[in-house]
Amino acid sequence: MLKIAPSILSGNFLNLEPDLRMINDNADLIHIDVMDGSLVPNISFGFPLAEAMAKVMTVPMDVHLMIVNPWKYIERFAKVGAGLISFHLEACDQAGKDPSEVIAMVKATGAKAGIAINPDVPVERLFPYIEEVDFFLIMSVFAGFGGQKFIEESVDRIKTLKAEMDRRGIVRDIEVDGGVSSANSRILADAGATMLVAGSSVFKAEDPAQAIKEMRD
Ligand code: DX5
Ligand code: ZN
Repeated sequence: MLKIAPSILSGNFLNLEPDLRMINDNADLIHIDVMDGSLVPNISFGFPLAEAMAKVMTVPMDVHLMIVNPWKYIERFAKVGAGLISFHLEACDQAGKDPSEVIAMVKATGAKAGIAINPDVPVERLFPYIEEVDFFLIMSVFAGFGGQKFIEESVDRIKTLKAEMDRRGIVRDIEVDGGVSSANSRILADAGATMLVAGSSVFKAEDPAQAIKEMRD
């Protein structure tokens, strides 16, 4: 079944609790974007907010680490209550770190491990990790900001990854993040996506619960 993960980056930061409860009642996961202004050109939030959100959340917290040296913070995010943790392959490239090591670190905490890539990283670079990871996060915009336009080529990237999984007979979740709405959810699911992240299309909707439902259906 297709899982919907609203991105709280588009929530109402003056009063997050109603948004969090709406996610609990209507969605499958909450997507939490952690940005450091270094790996990506924007800063979002960190532990204090994630800890506060954990007090309210009943659906799993899906923490997307857009930070350099993500391995330094994996254990802490797991302690805060992250059920899924993804890190960027680009962060490993920058530091000369073996992604397999980072995947193992995430798994050792009990959280599900995901590798994320930006639209300019060849999707084939994920192939070596298909066996090890729990999920892949295909960015369909350049990581850093909500509200960007969906990059259409992402659909083919998902198809390519899914085809390689099928070829090997391995089933892994494929999460898509950036510009996702009910206008492209069907084509993404047909391509092989199993988890859809949606920020603005949920929180800018008149009826966020309905927007989630439309994406799922
Ligand atoms: C972007 C973040 C996304 C963002 C998606 O760097 O990773 O999770 O919140 O927002 P929308 O759905 O508005 O593109
Ligand atoms: Zn994200």
